[in-house]
Amino acid sequence: MGYGIPPLWGSGMRKFYRLSFHRRKWLLVTFQVFLKIVFQMSIPSLQHPGPAPDLPGASPPFSANRGKLLLAIESSCDETAAAVIDRDRNVLSNVVATQHELHERFGGVVPEIASRAHLERILPVIDEALRNANANLTDLEAVAVATHPGLVGSLLVGLTAAKTLALVLNIPLLSINHIEAHIYACRMMAGRDVFPAVGFVVSGGHSNLYDCRSPVEFELLGSTTDDAAGEAFDKVAQILGLEYPGGPLIEKIAAQGNPSAVSFPRTFLNQSRLDFSFSGLKTAVLYAAKGTPGSRTPPVPLTPKRVADLAASFQAAVIDILVGKCDQALTQTGRKTLLVGGGVAANSTFRQRLADLARKRNVEMIVAAKEYCTDNAAMGALGWELLERGITSPLDLDVKPGLVRKRPVETDRSQG
Ligand code: KG4
Ligand code: ZN
Repeated sequence: MGYGIPPLWGSGMRKFYRLSFHRRKWLLVTFQVFLKIVFQMSIPSLQHPGPAPDLPGASPPFSANRGKLLLAIESSCDETAAAVIDRDRNVLSNVVATQHELHERFGGVVPEIASRAHLERILPVIDEALRNANANLTDLEAVAVATHPGLVGSLLVGLTAAKTLALVLNIPLLSINHIEAHIYACRMMAGRDVFPAVGFVVSGGHSNLYDCRSPVEFELLGSTTDDAAGEAFDKVAQILGLEYPGGPLIEKIAAQGNPSAVSFPRTFLNQSRLDFSFSGLKTAVLYAAKGTPGSRTPPVPLTPKRVADLAASFQAAVIDILVGKCDQALTQTGRKTLLVGGGVAANSTFRQRLADLARKRNVEMIVAAKEYCTDNAAMGALGWELLERGITSPLDLDVKPGLVRKRPVETDRSQG
C-alpha cells in the first residue's frame, strides 16, 4: 500500500520500455553524459568564464585564441581521445586514453566495457586536451566528433559530449567519418593540401581503398569481404598465443622469423578487383600452427622459432596483398599521391614496402606518423574542412554504428 509506482512515473517508464533498445540506450547515455558535463563544469578548464569585456579601452582580450579553435572528440572503439587544433591545422594538444588493459584478457574489444570506460574517461580527456592546449571553452569555434563507423555505445558517449558542448557554447557541431579521418591524418602529417589522392585505411575493422577527390569527397574503391587486415593480425596473434592487440607483437616476433618459411595464400592479389579477404589466410595460419583437421601428419611443434616463422610468413603475405592492392589502385585511378592511415600502418615493414612502391612508381606517398595511425582525435582536424565548406550538423545528429563495406554488386533479376 502506497509503495506502487506513481502513475506518471509508471506511464513514463512504460513509454520508455516501448522504445527500441537503440533509442533506450541513446536516451540513457545522453542523460548520463549531459548530467556529467553539467555537474563537472567545476573542472577548471571546463568552466565557462563568461563574455570577455569588449568595451573600448577594456582590459586585453581574454585569450588570443578566443573562438578560434576546434575541439575534436574520438570514441568510436576502444580509445577515448580529444584534441585541440587551430585553423592552420596545428595540433595544440592530442590526448588519447587507451583501454587495451581492459580488453586484453578477452582477446578483443568488448563493446559494453568500452562504452562504460568512455563514459568515465570522456570528460577528464577533454579537460586534459584543453589544459594541454592552454585553452578553455570560450576558445572553441566548433566541436567535431567521430559519429561513424564504430561501436554504438562508444560512439554515443563522444557524440553526446560533443552535442552538449555545442548546445551550451552555441557553436557548430561537426560529424566526422572516422575512416576518412584516418586518411586525413596524412594531411596533418604533410602540413599542406594533399588531395586528390588514393587513400588507404588499414585498421582493426577496415581495409578500405578510396579515391579521394578532395578532403570531403571520398569514393570507396574496395574493402574487405570478411576480416580486416588488423583483425587478421589480432586473430593470428591469438592462434600463436600472443596478447591483444596482436599487430605490434606479431611485428616484433616476425623480425626474428623467416618470411619464406611457409607460403601462405595471397587472396585476390592477381585479380583486378580492389577488395581484400583475410579469413582464408587466417585459417591457413591456424592449420599450420595446430594441424589440418583430418590430417595424419602432426603439426610442426610450436617452438619459439616456429612461432616467429609463422608470424613472419603471415606478415609477409598480408603486406604483399596490401601493397599489391595500393599498386593496382594507383594504376586504376591514375592518382599521383598515396595516403595511408590506420593502426596497421604503424607496421615498419609495411611502411618500408610502401616507400619502395612509391619510389618505383614515382608517386608521393604519405603515411601517418605512428601516433596518428592508431585511433586519435587530432585526425578529427578534418572538422575544419567541413566547417570551411559550411557542412555542419544539427543537434539531432545520430551515430551510424557498424563497419564501412563496399556493397556487393547486386544482380538485376529482371534481366535474368
Ligand atoms: O586504427 P586502429 O587503432 O583502430 C581501429 O579503428 O581499428 O587499429 C587497430 C589495429 C589492431 O588490429 C592492431 O593489431 C593493428 O591496428 N596494429 C598493427 C600494428 N599496430 C597496431 N598491425 C600490424 N603492425 C603493427 N605495428
Ligand atoms: Zn580507427
